[in-house]
Amino acid sequence: MKCGAVIVAAGRGERLKSQKPKAFVALGDSPLFQYSLDVFLTHPKISEIVLVVPAEEAASFSNPHYKTVKGGKTRQESVRCGLAALSPDCEAVLVHDAARPFVNAAILDRLIMSLVQKKSCIAAWPVSDTLKASQEGVITHTIDRSSLWAAQTPQAFPTAILKKALEKAAKENFVGTDDASLVERLGEKVYLVMGDAKNIKITTPEDLALATSLLKKS
Ligand code: CTP
Ligand code: MG
Repeated sequence: MKCGAVIVAAGRGERLKSQKPKAFVALGDSPLFQYSLDVFLTHPKISEIVLVVPAEEAASFSNPHYKTVKGGKTRQESVRCGLAALSPDCEAVLVHDAARPFVNAAILDRLIMSLVQKKSCIAAWPVSDTLKASQEGVITHTIDRSSLWAAQTPQAFPTAILKKALEKAAKENFVGTDDASLVERLGEKVYLVMGDAKNIKITTPEDLALATSLLKKS
């Protein structure tokens, strides 16, 4: 099974409030996207990588080890751009947010194990906080968390299924916050595999500060 990867790094990073697009902000000595890119580049089962970047960055990349294409207005459009650039013989694809620098090879192994059995799957982590629903600042009820998982990336799919899901979503003007939600709408099963508590997403300046301290410790 030939397995490709699409790493989306074309977002602005509005919530980080940085000058540069978020994936190009420095974490330690490298731009944020470099960390997850290196995990995919060094994984023996990933045959091809497409890095999706903001339009103004697309020209400045030239690399024999991965392809670079420009992204779209939404994450979902950026995933479409990346997928379109992947070789047609990639039967399976892992989609990853460059905003999660601490993804690791073991997570990729677990996803690929499912993919080999033609199963769509996502990295996820069980919710550990007690969850409250509220109205006007007052708790209405406590939500049973025993079946709740926080979705991470990578999310992995047979390529044809993800393509079909993206097309259906575009046709119906549905915008999801992750890729699995589009595949779920096809009525396809999507399995959960263990992500990692450290596989955090950098969204706010506080997240970047936390990531910097995690990096120093490792
Ligand atoms: N992304 C993308 N293209 C977009 C929007 C997002 O490739 N048009 C990517 C981001 O670069 C990021 C991932 O999707 O790696 C997850 O998105 P998010 O964390 O929301 O990043 P941003 O959209 O950049 O941040 P914000 O929503 O705060 O603007
Ligand atoms: Mg965003």
